[in-house]
Amino acid sequence: MIENPYRPGAGHMPPFLAGREKEEEHFRKLLRQNFATENILITGLRGMGKTVLLAHLKQLAESAGWIWVGNDLSESSSLSEERLALRILTDISESLGRVLNASEKEQGESTNASFEALRNMYEFTPGLPSDRLRNVLQRLGSLVKSAKARGIVLAYDEAQCLNDRADHNEFPMSMLIETIASLQRKTGTTQYLLVLCGLPQTQDALTEARTYTERMFNVITLERLSRADTHAAFVTPLKRLMPPLCISRELIDKAVDLTHGYPYLIQFFGKELVDELLQNGGTLPVDKFPSSSVLNRLDSGLFAARWNKTTDKQREVLNIIACRPAESSIDFSAQEIAEQSVGELTNGQATQMLQALTDRGLLYRTRHGRYAFTVPMSEIMILRRMRDVARVEDSWLMPPLAHQNGAFSNGTEGNRPEDLPTSRKRWRWLRT
Ligand SMILES: Nc1ncnc2c1ncn2[C@@H]1O[C@H](COP(=O)(O)OP(=O)(O)OP(=O)(O)O)[C@@H](O)[C@H]1O
Ligand SMILES: [Mg+2]
Repeated sequence: MIENPYRPGAGHMPPFLAGREKEEEHFRKLLRQNFATENILITGLRGMGKTVLLAHLKQLAESAGWIWVGNDLSESSSLSEERLALRILTDISESLGRVLNASEKEQGESTNASFEALRNMYEFTPGLPSDRLRNVLQRLGSLVKSAKARGIVLAYDEAQCLNDRADHNEFPMSMLIETIASLQRKTGTTQYLLVLCGLPQTQDALTEARTYTERMFNVITLERLSRADTHAAFVTPLKRLMPPLCISRELIDKAVDLTHGYPYLIQFFGKELVDELLQNGGTLPVDKFPSSSVLNRLDSGLFAARWNKTTDKQREVLNIIACRPAESSIDFSAQEIAEQSVGELTNGQATQMLQALTDRGLLYRTRHGRYAFTVPMSEIMILRRMRDVARVEDSWLMPPLAHQNGAFSNGTEGNRPEDLPTSRKRWRWLRT
């Protein structure tokens, strides 16, 4: 039995983490700081490898003697300041508890880092949630010392969920930034290092929260991998399977090209290739990969959840975006999309539609009010989907075989070939 080594899926550690040496080196440098003043924001599109990089940084931090306190904020969509403060205290008590248990066993001492103790400390401090949280974090020094740790790394994934919401009078992002900034300005207290991870809009949310965040964060933007790194990510796990599998260089090059260097696609096509090889007795001709069922699985895995939530109108707008010339920039404005629609969409309608697609998570707003896709290579998937829809529609516009054979030539059904529309009607939704 050969186990397929590739790991497509959110947060699954790949068998070979390629091309992140620069980020790793930078983080190691931060861990060596004596007075932490610099923090990290990791951003990138969906599937670009933020979560697995974070998991890798966790290992580095722990082996350098830091306590890692972290969580995923995706479930906390309506995060208030109070809830964030309690979330952080829960996470700290969990991590500290684990580290202290280990060192108490060595030293035979007992300390109390339970959530209840931290919560009481928080409750009895007067002031705003930020003052109370700061007070608790400031007083963790002795616990961190008993754990013989250098400091605490606070690491939060899906940090775009922290957005300040002025309409609800809730400013969780500002609270977190302000608390950490003020702790880092004090000398003689525990060192805290903040690592946030999220979609590209997190960077804007940070700068909007406090003007000084630009100096406080080093932004790591994860892009797709270079060809050499993609090749390494793809081939390293494969090498261990050759033999018994036998894969031509041409087929490997083709699979590497298909991924365009996007980390999720490296795992996806890697897994599909190994599965197909196994089903095919260990070898595969180049032109048999990828089969149409592989591409269907790709679309239904990466894209379907968001696509299925869209209306027909939104799909037509997505099609306009996907049909932009190949040399267009990655991001686009509502005005450009209105122009691209050749008079079918006004600027106002385009703005509305792009906003609705942003609310559904297919697009995000870049700086200066432009938009871009959250999932890499969305355009190709949209075109494939629209082509499939068009095929079905066209099949209904063709005269049925029965007509061609003259079986219903008296035309009583009213759908003689000459009655059928000659082209598919586009934009009907804008006209109705
Ligand atoms: N450097 C890398 N080399 C090879 N594979 C990678 C690399 N980084 C990530 N992957 C793979 O890419 C996929 C997506 O990774 P991950 O879940 O970390 O992305 P993400 O940016 O957190 O996505 P999301 O925004 O959806 O949370 C996983 O299957 C992972 O194994
Ligand atoms: Mg992630």
